[in-house]
Amino acid sequence: MRTLDDLIRHGVKGRRVLVRSDLNVPLKDGAVADDGRIRASLPVITKLLDRGARVIVAAHLGRPKGAPDPQYSLRPVADRLAQLLGQPVDFALDTVGESARLLAGELKNGDLLLLENVRFHPGETSKDDAQRAALAMCLAFLTGGDDEGGAFVEDAFGAVHRKHASVYDVAKLLPHYCGDLVRDELTVLRQLTEDPKRPYVVVLGGSKVSDKLAVITSLLPRVDRLLVGGGMCFTFLKAQGYEVGDSLLEDDQVDTCRQLLADNPDKIVLPSDIVVAADVTDDAKTQTVPADAIPKDMKGLDIGPRTVAAFAADLADAQTVFWNGPMGVFEWPRFGEGTTAVARAVAACEGFTVVGGGDSVRAVQEAGLTGDISWVSTGGGASLELLEGRELPGVAAIPAA
Ligand code: 3PG
Ligand code: MG
Repeated sequence: MRTLDDLIRHGVKGRRVLVRSDLNVPLKDGAVADDGRIRASLPVITKLLDRGARVIVAAHLGRPKGAPDPQYSLRPVADRLAQLLGQPVDFALDTVGESARLLAGELKNGDLLLLENVRFHPGETSKDDAQRAALAMCLAFLTGGDDEGGAFVEDAFGAVHRKHASVYDVAKLLPHYCGDLVRDELTVLRQLTEDPKRPYVVVLGGSKVSDKLAVITSLLPRVDRLLVGGGMCFTFLKAQGYEVGDSLLEDDQVDTCRQLLADNPDKIVLPSDIVVAADVTDDAKTQTVPADAIPKDMKGLDIGPRTVAAFAADLADAQTVFWNGPMGVFEWPRFGEGTTAVARAVAACEGFTVVGGGDSVRAVQEAGLTGDISWVSTGGGASLELLEGRELPGVAAIPAA
């Protein structure tokens, strides 16, 4: 693929380069709560700034509905970015409006401009090609266009699975290149699809089995073990013929899960015990029960210690591991132990380990285990779609070298 280094070889001094970064970070009390994705985006930005480019960063935060919404402003991200870079960051009050155009025009060599949330503009996520193209045109225009040396760098790995204006359409309008983060993520994640070292163990959690069916189906022929936890395990347990009480259940997926279990009896590993409570509350009375004996009026909210031990045993001698999705209602400490224990087991594995997805990554960070994981992906949905073997719009847009 054509990379940022190819662009740099042509010289970037004085050129306006539009970079799509994934700066979709959690905020708390108006400040950045976890700057992982900002840090992951720095290498490309500094590489360009150091060489005298005039850098314009486009990014999204949250899911505003195509109109400005102050709670999703990127302003706190601009502040954090400035701190981390140790240089001022111009912040446009709009995405492609008067403020953006004015500031883009005034950029000097080595200056950085962050545009306000691209999703404040209805064109960003529109299903209508013309609407997206119109926004893409305005974004490209900020660089002065191809004639004026404008270029586009795709570095938002977490968003490459979105067919959005700033991810996909803008690439048609400017010479475009793959950023270092996207390059590195693709290199690592391809090791999971192309000839992974065995045993290859995948741990999947999260609430809905319907969200994960595509990836489960494409992973099963390739993995040695698929360990299933989180809300989605109850649909599998139900398919096994067990009572799941008040737990999360997708009734319309039970048959599919039953078929998957029948076709892969030795690969899919389900929890053998479950932490249950009547409700998700701070002082909930919890109880650990066998997975085939969940009381009628109880909700399964985490995997139990026997399951953790079984999962850890499978992970211990794995050569390749991929983990996405929490094992329970991880935001509540009472129901977070299974997830934290899986984080520890993945970290303890000597093989090649990859963790993706917001909650799993947070569990690893909160346990202080980031350094013990081979690769912590910045993409949740993007990494899953890559493992599914789907074409990612933001990657497909990048031409061959
Ligand atoms: C993410 O957080 O997964 C990426 O930034 C993409 O965001 P989205 O799921 O809202 O498209
Ligand atoms: Mg997401």
